[in-house]
Amino acid sequence: MEITRIVGGRRLCGDVVVGGSKNACLPMLAASLLTCEECVIHNVPALSDVVTMIAILRELGVSVNRIGEHSVKIHARNASFVVPEIYMQKMRASVCLMGALIGRTGKAIVPIPGGCVIGCRPIDLHIKGFRALGCRTVRRRDFFVMDGSRLHAEKITLSGERGSTVTGTINVIMAAIKAPGESVIEGAAVEPEVSDFCGYLSAMGAKISGVGTSTLKVTGGIALHGCEYTVIGDRIEAGTFVCAGLITGGDVRIFGLERGLLDPFLVGLRRIGARVSQDDDGKITVQSGGQLSYADIVTGPHPGFPTDLQAQFCALQTQSCGESTIVEGVYPSRFMYAAELGKMGAAIRVENASARVSGPCALRGACLRATDLRSSAALYLAGLCASGETFVYDAHHIDRGYENLEMKLRAIGANIRRV
Ligand code: EPU
Repeated sequence: MEITRIVGGRRLCGDVVVGGSKNACLPMLAASLLTCEECVIHNVPALSDVVTMIAILRELGVSVNRIGEHSVKIHARNASFVVPEIYMQKMRASVCLMGALIGRTGKAIVPIPGGCVIGCRPIDLHIKGFRALGCRTVRRRDFFVMDGSRLHAEKITLSGERGSTVTGTINVIMAAIKAPGESVIEGAAVEPEVSDFCGYLSAMGAKISGVGTSTLKVTGGIALHGCEYTVIGDRIEAGTFVCAGLITGGDVRIFGLERGLLDPFLVGLRRIGARVSQDDDGKITVQSGGQLSYADIVTGPHPGFPTDLQAQFCALQTQSCGESTIVEGVYPSRFMYAAELGKMGAAIRVENASARVSGPCALRGACLRATDLRSSAALYLAGLCASGETFVYDAHHIDRGYENLEMKLRAIGANIRRV
């Protein structure tokens, strides 16, 4: 079992560089199946999810080679269309292989994605999009069997009860690339990762207009070619370091994130009195000083407050003055970490899809269990400002989305180590 030991109470000061975006990079790796030519992707973060995606591609017969630490060369000369079951349980992002395989081979046999601890994660909108494009999709026991041999362009609406779907939009774009004619995707997700993904496909020769808006037009039937592409920085990793600076009363500069990507989060932080800014060159500066205050926030699809920073923000609000209300608008049950923070003395009440956090609260070190990626980040943050020692069990979750987090935190003064 992976355990992280944190001795809290140190101010974090210094410079940090974030890696490439996990949620942009994973579908790009899958999309490399769309061409028989070689693709080179740079700024690929060294994460366990990336290792899993590469393992799946290799199982499908794709050649994947690492060039240096953060670049990957992918050559899908051949590709099988059957995804082995174990991977779908390991990583939700493997759902992107559905669209990639339909777009490449016209068929796919893909296991039903496993349950997820952050709550219900349906794929009905993905299936709706595939079917609209003429892909016959049948559920057989634990698999989806998909036949996209007669795809056609179509107008598709992807918005659901909780907004659009990030991986669903990505999936439908990949299938639409194989469907001759112009497909229109309305209610498309506008997350920066979707735009970056479209940038990758455009570099492969795809014709996609409306990128960054909720209406995308995809011209299908064009053969894609190899390309070289650099993934954007990870806004969630950057936001986590912003919280690390603030929660420890430190001064941190964060490099590697394009300007504007973190704005919805930075706006929320300024509302609690945090001094955070981003320069034209992307550098984020965090300067502590003064008591932070409460805020009422609601997470939502971009450009809303990002759900992937909700847990970290909640940890921060344990140190702010007053009662904050955090409403989770994307995954209503994404509060599993709250009980763990409670063991440290945090005052958090969870009701339905919201949490009320009262602060400031002196946290004390405790033995905690991480349940998922972003929860782990919240527990680390709490440990960094708590008195005494904190042990985070099942710390392997952090490796799914943060490259060398302990090392990066140590470099700015934290006393943290995987034991
Ligand atoms: N939804 C449906 N039907 C669908 C698909 C989604 O109702 O067919 C609902 C979901 O239940 C949820 C909302 O729509 O309430 C958004 O889900 P979405 O499909 O956008 O999520 P996702 O594509 O599965 C990606 C990220 C998540 C991130 C969400 C929201 C990847 C690999 N994952 O998931 O990242 O939280 O978008 O921004 O891109 C993380 O990095 O920790 C993480 C969970």
